[in-house]
Amino acid sequence: MHSTQIRQTFTDFFTSRGHHSVPSSPLVPDDPTLLLANAGMNQFKPYFLGETTPPYPRATSIQKCARTSDIENVGRTNRHATFFEMMGNFSFGDYFKQDAIAFAWELLTHGYGLEKNKLWITVYEDDDEAEHLWRRIGVPASRIQRLGMEDNYWSMGVPGPCGPCSEVNYDRGPDFGKEGGPAVDGERYVEIWNLVFMQNLRGEGPAKKDYPVLGELADKSIDTGLGLDRLAAILQDAENMCTTDLLLPTLETVQELTGREMPDQGEEKVSFQVVAEHTRTIAYLIADGVLPAKDGRGYILRRLMRRAIRHARQLGITGPVLPQTTASVISNLGPVWPVLSAQAELIGQITTAEEESFTRTLAQGTRLLDAAISRTQSTGSAALPGETAFELADTYGFPLELTVEAAHEASLTVDEDRFAALLDQQRKRAQTGRRAKTAQALRQMDAYRELSGHLPPAEFLGYEHLQVEATVTGLIAHGTVTSTASEGEGEEIELVLDRSPFYAEAGGQAGDTGTFTTTDGATIRITDTRYGLGHAPNGFRVHTARVLEGELRTGTSGLAAVDAERRSGLMRAHSATHILHAVVMATLGEHARQQGSLVEDDRLRFDFAHFTALTPDQLTTIEAAVNRHVLHDPAVSAWYASRAEAEAAGAIALFGEKYSETVRVVDIGDFSRELCGGTHVAHGSQVGTFRLLSESSIGSNMRRIEALTGHSTLTHTTTERRLLNELATLLGTPPDSAPEALHARLTALAQAEGELARQRAQKVILKATAIAGGARQVPGGWIIAEQVTDVSPTDLRTMATEAVRKVHLGPVIAILGTEHDGKAQLAAAISPSLVDDGHAAAPILTRAARAVGGGGGGTGALASAGGRRPAHLTEALNLAAQDATTLLANS
Ligand code: ALA
Repeated sequence: MHSTQIRQTFTDFFTSRGHHSVPSSPLVPDDPTLLLANAGMNQFKPYFLGETTPPYPRATSIQKCARTSDIENVGRTNRHATFFEMMGNFSFGDYFKQDAIAFAWELLTHGYGLEKNKLWITVYEDDDEAEHLWRRIGVPASRIQRLGMEDNYWSMGVPGPCGPCSEVNYDRGPDFGKEGGPAVDGERYVEIWNLVFMQNLRGEGPAKKDYPVLGELADKSIDTGLGLDRLAAILQDAENMCTTDLLLPTLETVQELTGREMPDQGEEKVSFQVVAEHTRTIAYLIADGVLPAKDGRGYILRRLMRRAIRHARQLGITGPVLPQTTASVISNLGPVWPVLSAQAELIGQITTAEEESFTRTLAQGTRLLDAAISRTQSTGSAALPGETAFELADTYGFPLELTVEAAHEASLTVDEDRFAALLDQQRKRAQTGRRAKTAQALRQMDAYRELSGHLPPAEFLGYEHLQVEATVTGLIAHGTVTSTASEGEGEEIELVLDRSPFYAEAGGQAGDTGTFTTTDGATIRITDTRYGLGHAPNGFRVHTARVLEGELRTGTSGLAAVDAERRSGLMRAHSATHILHAVVMATLGEHARQQGSLVEDDRLRFDFAHFTALTPDQLTTIEAAVNRHVLHDPAVSAWYASRAEAEAAGAIALFGEKYSETVRVVDIGDFSRELCGGTHVAHGSQVGTFRLLSESSIGSNMRRIEALTGHSTLTHTTTERRLLNELATLLGTPPDSAPEALHARLTALAQAEGELARQRAQKVILKATAIAGGARQVPGGWIIAEQVTDVSPTDLRTMATEAVRKVHLGPVIAILGTEHDGKAQLAAAISPSLVDDGHAAAPILTRAARAVGGGGGGTGALASAGGRRPAHLTEALNLAAQDATTLLANS
């Protein structure tokens, strides 16, 4: 059964049983507790938690998922993957265990025709009900096993929904592993379908088990996940994930690139599979808007790319690999997942650029590693320090395995214990920070949930009004719901209103600030507004506030007033961001889409995808084009439509944003149309002027523009004028001639510096000549050893080289020492003839360098050294002279 048919069978089965078919959400989830979509239920989390009313009681989806927790197993087992499609059916307080079990059984045994006696079931250790239901349907007790929390209890996020689960496993036969059921062997009895009986709220604790269950959810729900890849392997009788129709074409591309077949076993087989499997994840991640980066989801992508490239190199593929392999993913899966085809160009560009840069990283890491290896060898130690391995891995992305390998080749080991300790320290630091944050967030969330549970959604009136009469419906202080808050306490509190003109932070636009003045005389300063639960447009809106005067009580009414000046600045900056987005795409191409933005009072930050820095010309063009649009004074209007209508009308939706079924579309003239819930000016010219401040890189393939609008551009211009005037005053010219005057001064300065350098060089040469006069003959040649007064290390080296050149009587060695900046400096130069005979200057300074308490280096005819003990210079020069004498005697 081809994967297309497997998907269709699934969707048909559930839609014909009353499930609403919901498209996969992007891999970049709209949930701060989650880096990447990793289960079909992610997008429904608010429904399970009861934060939002589900628009349908049953749903089915085929969700793109990425999980890297098992990355080390990829290619080593038949069932692990970093990307998979999860087919699921969901009930939001509608049906529960009995139907979920019956549906799964019917679809597997009839729809997909799996043999009943190959199916094994696991249930949670105390779930008698689930076991009973499976037995009633015909599964014998001998094929039902009970497992603990780690295996049979599922949860998502903290706080998040959780519940016991029951898994359906398929026996692939004795070729795949030991007998004894899924409790014994997960390779042979491969888990295909997980049925989660969602009914509780989970608390803080280790990821998979031993976390407290905080209480029951309002409704009992169902969340299931059937792995498409695993099912396809069974139905297509493929050994594993990489040989189903989903991945086989990509595996074949890898075979073409290596020019050979994947072997049946061994490390090579692992590498073939890693390249094919990771490639698919890479393609989907980029298509959904992830770009390689130093941290977060961008780092996950980067790590996958680097692993794939490394394994490809191990297979002997030297040329570009990812552009080719991702192209095969796109042609194979693009017809089912159009986003792959739509982003094909971007995928090609990003994989090419990242592969080039990683190839350079590997080269750079190798150089650093070589230096570290010689350092270790020269200290006589047998192990490369853990610090070095850690720095290579952490800063340069140079993998530990490679460091270990290179160290072995130089007969060294790596202090891996130290490496592990450093890694652990780094992890712990990150974890402690996260824990503290989560505990506080949990308390706050409880308060939000308590309030939102009994309050109707607040009305947002801020598109039309900046001031409205409103009533306090909830107060939170120190994370708990309270009924009063007063002046003097000086504490930050949170305020919920029945209706509000305050825009809550969303879509990059900062939340509104302002005041709330009660009818009984209390004054409250509102410092921020955001969504405590859920999202725009209907999420639960909270106002961060401080009581300035009087006492605030739940139930009190008053006037809620937004800071109008600030809001105007926000609107100007937000509209300018849309105009900028349109202009950037028109100037650079369709790929240069917005990746993020920050809209503040007359100031904006705009992140977009692009591969190189913009030229000054491009920046000027962009700034001018934005201003031209602004001054044309286009009308700005907002309208509502269904998501599909809006997209058909060409509205730009942003990567990773989650939109509800009905969306708000903002049009600016006829050149910008975006899905957006933000507040905007009514007419383009209200933006004032637009000033580009900077353009920079914020990670590979990610650029950032910072710009100003309205009043900020004026303040900026005033500052620039003041700076120019100050410069002009310093130069003693009118501002207009300042550049010319400065240019003249710089030229004069350069001439003077040149003259100074020439004179210094002359002095050095004169001194070298004088020193050369003191050369003394020893067996085999001539030696110069002298201490000179205060010369820079560079001049000292020149002096030594020149001194050698001045003596024409045979092989010469010059050793000079000086005290400079409180340190001892040494230089040694030898005649070219000595170099030709295989000698080098560096060894002459080895003992001398130690005498002054330091070290040195150099290549061929010239070496230098430095140390902390200038008092030992004479001794050092004597030692060097002795070593030079020995060298000449033996030459
Ligand atoms: N959410 C469940 C899982 O991912 C179905 O296994």
